Amino acid sequence: MKKASGIGKEELPLAVLFFEELRDIYGAEKQLTKALPKLRKAATSQDLAMAFEDHLRVTQNQISRLEQIFQALDKKPEEKKCEGMEGLLKEGESVIEDTEEGSATRDVGLIVSAQKVEHYEIAAYGSLRQLAKTIDKAEISKLLEETLEEEKATDMLLSNLAETLINQDASMEIR
Ligand SMILES: [Fe+2]
Repeated sequence: MKKASGIGKEELPLAVLFFEELRDIYGAEKQLTKALPKLRKAATSQDLAMAFEDHLRVTQNQISRLEQIFQALDKKPEEKKCEGMEGLLKEGESVIEDTEEGSATRDVGLIVSAQKVEHYEIAAYGSLRQLAKTIDKAEISKLLEETLEEEKATDMLLSNLAETLINQDASMEIR
């Protein structure tokens, strides 16, 4: 007989996949909390710096929400090293290396990197929400939906910020 290990009496393959993906995004969010202060420091625009600061708080809350989900599944919150997030954050570091301090170009580059991160997260949470529904975890799906909406809002905010920055600096630095 198969050993039951948490989600159901016997874990269905989809439930296992769901759990693994949950661990992946948990690891991703943790990595992001370490990177956001660096992004904030690199930003020149006050609005952008503030957006990174706000998103750090939002991310910490999303981590708690994930921990709540692990608890609901009777699982220990274990992070998996998220290679996707690691790559995206490395790209963010390259932007900082390759652009001039205090330049609007760097700010726009930081926004590009941050939006790539948001899109990764939107994909992850969108899939997780759907998977949760599929394995009959409606309440968990709702929690994931909350985070999904937050990521979408951040993405929108970043788009608006980029537009403002580009308009402001169009005649000056960005060619
Ligand atoms: Fe997030």
